[in-house]
Amino acid sequence: MEVDVNKVYTWANPAGYHFFGADVLGKGADLYFEGEQNTFDVVHSLFNGDENTIYVESWQRRQDGEKRLLAWWCRVMKDGQGNVIGAISSARDITERTRAEQEILQLHDQTEQQVQRLIALRTIDQTINVSFDLGVTLDVVLSQLVTQLGVDAAAVMSLSPHSQTLEHLASRGFRSPHVDKMTFHAGEGLEGKAIVERRTWLTSHLPEERVALARAQALSADKFITYCGTPLIVKGKVRGVLEVFHRAALTPSAEWIEFLELLAGQIAIAMDNAEMFVTQQRAHGELAMAYDATIEGWSRALDLRDKETEGHTQRVTELTLRLAGAMGVPESEWTNIQRGALLHDIGKMGVPDSILLKPGPLTEEEWRVMRQHPVWARDLLSPIAYLRPALEIPYSHHEKWDGTGYPDGLRGERIPLAARIFAVADVWDALLSNRPYCPAWTEERAREHIRAQSGAHFDPRVVDVFWEMLERG
Ligand code: C2E
Ligand code: SIN
Ligand code: SIN
Ligand code: FE
Ligand code: FE
Repeated sequence: MEVDVNKVYTWANPAGYHFFGADVLGKGADLYFEGEQNTFDVVHSLFNGDENTIYVESWQRRQDGEKRLLAWWCRVMKDGQGNVIGAISSARDITERTRAEQEILQLHDQTEQQVQRLIALRTIDQTINVSFDLGVTLDVVLSQLVTQLGVDAAAVMSLSPHSQTLEHLASRGFRSPHVDKMTFHAGEGLEGKAIVERRTWLTSHLPEERVALARAQALSADKFITYCGTPLIVKGKVRGVLEVFHRAALTPSAEWIEFLELLAGQIAIAMDNAEMFVTQQRAHGELAMAYDATIEGWSRALDLRDKETEGHTQRVTELTLRLAGAMGVPESEWTNIQRGALLHDIGKMGVPDSILLKPGPLTEEEWRVMRQHPVWARDLLSPIAYLRPALEIPYSHHEKWDGTGYPDGLRGERIPLAARIFAVADVWDALLSNRPYCPAWTEERAREHIRAQSGAHFDPRVVDVFWEMLERG
């Protein structure tokens, strides 16, 4: 198009006629503007000589009456003397492109939100995977929920299958006191609707609802307007309800509801996991008890074969545990010490009766076999994952503080503490018992032996604690 200095169209190309109409020449350019007239003012900078070329976008009326957004490049026209005589310009219709750009922008916003929500879901997933503590998981879920859905408060209520009561599991954002103490029958108020109907149930006129919340009184300080409940369903069973509260009206989008229901799914899974974990713990506990009964059976069988005096292994085990306690060994290690002590001579299963029950002293060759018993213990027990942590005593109970023991000749604190403690208890009880190769010693003589071996066979610290314990009785 071309305009003269009065902004009257003086020339058009075919596209120009097509857009503005066949009668466009001679008409004022301002006739064709839609919306803000001042966009045209920019063109003045061409006429007063400030600019030679300008770019402008403006909404203009097409000949069919439709509003279109045009992008103009305008250039000033001058005569031979340099006087401005008008402007020439070309325009492109960018209406569609702009619409597309806006859609992209909107899409970007939505995507951003979706990405945020996906991240929230990942966070929750990870929590469910690493935490068997339902309380921790629910705290994470609810904090993500309140942020991502932009609501004031949220709660998880679990449904007790027998009594059909709803009990507080977790909550966030409430002002009313004692929210965590609220328990009520599922049929009492609005809270039960999502459960009975097995679907998300929402009202944004809470005060006007015919049926009130069962907790309406208790939550009055919160002044909630919106309530939304969605059932927690896992493996086809309703486990409770996820509730969202807001102090203003809400008209949630489909995505909002979808996200809420996704979270409800996650919560239901977490509740199920927690329950399974408790069941597993119980099963595990029962198994552990069965194992320990087995170990005690084995240890009695070993004593029988060894012709040990009645209860040697039991006594040594008790003495070892008492010593360990007095030495400050953490309680978490006591179970393995107990198992290790009960099985300390299990390796003697590899020693033939002819050696084990020999009335007199052992030959060099017999000693070679006898000294293998800690190694055989390790071979026997190490394939049993459950007993591997209990191996210190069976494997190292014949090591000596001065490094002259077997099987590894370990010295001092390189010998596991449990084995150093056990050695004192074992020798003490062995000396006081009748053995195939030697009658029982008097307590006096046994004391003398232990005292003499402190720092040689035994860890002196263990011996000291042992005396204190003997004195206390
Ligand atoms: P055990 O009978 O359970 O003895 C455990 C540990 O108590 C012995 O480890 C040793 O440190 C101490 N002990 C037991 N009796 C005596 C004793 O009369 N004098 C002294 N000084 N210490 C004693 P050790 O010596 O490594 O022996 C390991 C196992 O070898 C014993 O277990 C026992 O089954 C066997 N054994 C040791 N000496 C003889 C023996 O002279 N004849 C036979 N038949 N077996 C023996
Ligand atoms: C206008 O049409 O408004 C200006 C275009 C031109 O400079 O020709
Ligand atoms: C404008 O639209 O403001 C500049 C181009 C034109 O006026 O036609
Ligand atoms: Fe032994
Ligand atoms: Fe023993």
